[in-house]
Amino acid sequence: MGHKAPTLFRWPVEDELALGLLLPHHAEALLVLVDENRDHLRPWLPWVDKTRRVDDSLAFIRSGLQQLSRCDGFHLGIWCAGALAGVLGVHWIDWANRRTSLGYWLGAGFQGRGLMTRSVAAVLDFLFDEWDLHRVEVRAAVTNFRSRAVPERLGFRLEGVLRGVERFSDGSYRDHAVYAMLAEEWRERRALQGTALARPRQHR
Ligand SMILES: CC(C)(COP(=O)(O)OP(=O)(O)OC[C@H]1O[C@@H](n2cnc3c(N)ncnc32)[C@H](O)[C@@H]1OP(=O)(O)O)[C@@H](O)C(=O)NCCC(=O)NCCS
Repeated sequence: MGHKAPTLFRWPVEDELALGLLLPHHAEALLVLVDENRDHLRPWLPWVDKTRRVDDSLAFIRSGLQQLSRCDGFHLGIWCAGALAGVLGVHWIDWANRRTSLGYWLGAGFQGRGLMTRSVAAVLDFLFDEWDLHRVEVRAAVTNFRSRAVPERLGFRLEGVLRGVERFSDGSYRDHAVYAMLAEEWRERRALQGTALARPRQHR
């Protein structure tokens, strides 16, 4: 009959882009994506070499679902034309101050199409409108220009640089650029749709 079963918790964003809760049956696809992108991800993400087996991605997915059950964040898969393309995580929720922080990555072949910028925009809509949060942060190594361009494109404000805040496996320390968006700034920006996407700044 050509019947296609509905996909639970999949959230169409636009065109070929959909977000959805990462569920245990995605563990294998997630590991394949990590395996295909180790060299691309390793410079920026400390967990890459600790994710070796399906059980590792399953543990990551389960930890996200446990977080969600406590209303303390969640991990979304990013799907592009039905293929798992990356992950967007809401790290934790500080409900007392209604703030949180985002983390993200894409497979190398899925870069350059605005998938992450549009996914972050959709998650900001959800966090500000549905969960009534007030502040969303993104932190990125100062030299991670592609990552920094995502909040910059969306109009986050650069609030400063945390010096030597992250220790890497080679013993080096990294500085982080800290960006934040407040609910009222996002609503103002949305009201001016059409000029919402700013050009990324140059850091070089
Ligand atoms: C950080 C990362 C997710 C950014 O990916 P990205 O593809 O550059 O970001 P987007 O998906 O938002 O795409 C933006 C690009 O698509 C283009 N684009 C096309 N259509 C677009 C649209 N509708 N909206 C926005 N941008 C669009 C933009 O012009 C930009 O192109 P450019 O890089 O030539 O300027 C990716 O580089 C990555 O996973 N890196 C490794 C892991 C990592 O560093 N994670 C972050 C740790 S803090």
